[in-house]
Amino acid sequence: MIHIAIDGPAGSGKSTIAKKVAEKFNINYLDSGALYRIIGYYIFNENINLEDANGIVNSLGDIDIILSEGKYRLNGKLIDDQIRTYNSGKLASRVAKIPEVRKKVNYILKSISSKESTVIDGRDIGTVVLPKAEVKIYLTASAKERANRRYKELIEKGEKVNFEDVYTEIKKRDEADTNRTIAPLKPAEDAKIIDTTGKKIEEVLSEIYTIVESEL
Ligand code: C5P
Repeated sequence: MIHIAIDGPAGSGKSTIAKKVAEKFNINYLDSGALYRIIGYYIFNENINLEDANGIVNSLGDIDIILSEGKYRLNGKLIDDQIRTYNSGKLASRVAKIPEVRKKVNYILKSISSKESTVIDGRDIGTVVLPKAEVKIYLTASAKERANRRYKELIEKGEKVNFEDVYTEIKKRDEADTNRTIAPLKPAEDAKIIDTTGKKIEEVLSEIYTIVESEL
């Protein structure tokens, strides 16, 4: 079995890269951000106040998330596009500050990945979720470039956003994810840091493939 942790800030290219790595080595892929997004989505749709941490914690037992055929299901229903919006990223970041929410997400990630080789992308995978992962990658890029990538993605999906708002939001999320007390965004001591500013996906991938191959 091999475990690969890919961490980094919003827009660093983590999920695109992680999916390709999983495909190349024919192993499972888990998107940890999606789990925070699903919980944020549920809380918002149930009209639970986002300021009410107790209310959020009390509702966690009603949230059943499973992975089937590479897709997440929330209480039995497929959930994907609904959580890929600009707003759900913001909601995710709010609920991700609550320790019990993190415990639930980590439990799901650990129980799936304990059974098979897995690539997981997120913020705290190399530091908290898979501290013993054979491969740890920390992807980063300038805030402007990351905002640009996110902006293009959202526009392609038909969302009405403007660049300045996306840029401001990326900087706010960096700030919130880096400065929170629980599982802050930071590279693991043994992570390989890759700055993707100005790099093509293929270049980054070939660097990562070489690292993974050396562990097989
Ligand atoms: O990666 P993605 O943009 O989907 O993550 C959404 C939010 O979920 C992040 O801004 C972060 O606050 C939170 N998150 C986290 N830990 C992870 C993955 C995501 O706190 N491992």
